[in-house]
Amino acid sequence: MPCERHYPFSLLVAMNQYLQSKDLPSALKAYGLPFFFYKCDRPKVCASDFEWLNRMIDDYTSVNGLGEAAKIDVLNVKPTCASEVDSFERIKKACGFDFDISKFEVLFCSWASLHNDPDWAGNVFVNLVLHTGPSGYVVGAHGVNYAKEGAVPVVTTQAYRVEVGDLFVLDPTVPHSAHPAYPSDGSFLAVLQVSLPFGNESEKLQIFEKLKPQKGLYQDAFA
Ligand SMILES: [Fe+2]
Repeated sequence: MPCERHYPFSLLVAMNQYLQSKDLPSALKAYGLPFFFYKCDRPKVCASDFEWLNRMIDDYTSVNGLGEAAKIDVLNVKPTCASEVDSFERIKKACGFDFDISKFEVLFCSWASLHNDPDWAGNVFVNLVLHTGPSGYVVGAHGVNYAKEGAVPVVTTQAYRVEVGDLFVLDPTVPHSAHPAYPSDGSFLAVLQVSLPFGNESEKLQIFEKLKPQKGLYQDAFA
């Protein structure tokens, strides 16, 4: 029996519009735009360059704990000395794009229940994994598919395993979640997150051009 692919109607329409746009780089056609969620090639960041960021998380959690399960904490951190500035510059360089030193946050949680971030529509979330604990984390984006109009919806997930040093790009409007690959007391996920705003589709594509999906990675947008 041939396997039939089921797409949500709204996604199909949007994707077709996207794929027909003249300025879409052909390399990106395979990645299931317009919803985007993909891993990039691992930037070559030295683990020691994460130490100052993890130290700030430790300082915070030693006073406040990790909070309730599924609570996501946000720290606005800035390098405070020359060596931290140097680390930050090396991280930026390794990630291959420039961002304002005041425009990033460190997010951490034991796990993140399914949610989306509608206030951030019009942004690309770029996440560099700083900490996972004993096991990696599974980050997922979730969609609802319909075989045909009026059919019972089917929930599907696109998920990636991430380890310290991985870089992934997420559409904040798509429902997403995170949990440890193997639950353990020492697990928490911390990411350095940068929000890159785009004014239109062409600006969004310029961001994707700088943050290319990992070679060979197939993102089928919840198919
Ligand atoms: Fe989120």
